[in-house]
Amino acid sequence: MTRITVGDVSLNIEQRGQGRPLLLVHGFPLDHSMWRHQIDAFSARLRVIAPDLRGFGQSDATPPGTVTMAQLADDLAALLDALEVTEPVTLCALSMGGYVAFPFVRRHAKRLGSLILCDTRAVADTPEAANNRRTLATRVLAEGSFVVADAMLPKLFAPNTVRQQPEIVEQTRQVMLRTNPVGVAAALEAMAVRDDSTELLGSIKVPTLLVCGEHDGISTPDEMRGMAQAIPGARCEEIVGAGHMAPLEAPTEVNRAIAQFLGVAIA
Ligand code: MLT
Repeated sequence: MTRITVGDVSLNIEQRGQGRPLLLVHGFPLDHSMWRHQIDAFSARLRVIAPDLRGFGQSDATPPGTVTMAQLADDLAALLDALEVTEPVTLCALSMGGYVAFPFVRRHAKRLGSLILCDTRAVADTPEAANNRRTLATRVLAEGSFVVADAMLPKLFAPNTVRQQPEIVEQTRQVMLRTNPVGVAAALEAMAVRDDSTELLGSIKVPTLLVCGEHDGISTPDEMRGMAQAIPGARCEEIVGAGHMAPLEAPTEVNRAIAQFLGVAIA
């Protein structure tokens, strides 16, 4: 684990391996540990960089109003500068990570070699969804991060995962409970005001893979197949039996899809 200062924050990152850079960007309200199976599998062949975004894991938080998806994308670009990564990266991002990937495409296109979008959406929040996020942010600040764990956990995993892998549900709950309420509230506010990226999809020029859990109710397979159709040359892999947290729920299948896309062998 390393700490890197970028702008006004110090970020916690896990970095392992050498070679082409693979940047893994976690979802909400999680940290880099959701990528543990991908870090293990790909660090034998690639330089894997897995940060805790601003406000999450052991990275510094800044208050609501100071965080946007564009700021998080800029943090990633600054992190790559600090790590002296000059070659284009594969950006692999899940859900909120995908919301960060879109401004990264807009603002840092030269840094991007290829894109893997896992269980994410291009649309912005509806006014109702944005209001719900603001209500949740107020409660999290007043009561603590357990409020967001209670709200999110039931939506993240496929029924089979809950039955057969209860330990990953519990580990995820613990990550959420440890997350700084200020960081959670700031990200909720940032997601509520994020741009719609539907129009961007047609202009994505790098090779792109979409990965979606069969039972993902937040970013559904139908919606993600629609996104894949809008991105020139993109392909969507549906992960049978998995939910919104496909890389954690079904790592063998997700890693196989990523390895094939990247043209690397994994053990
Ligand atoms: C995530 O997994 O990052 C969240 O589901 C994103 C969201 O709340 O829209």
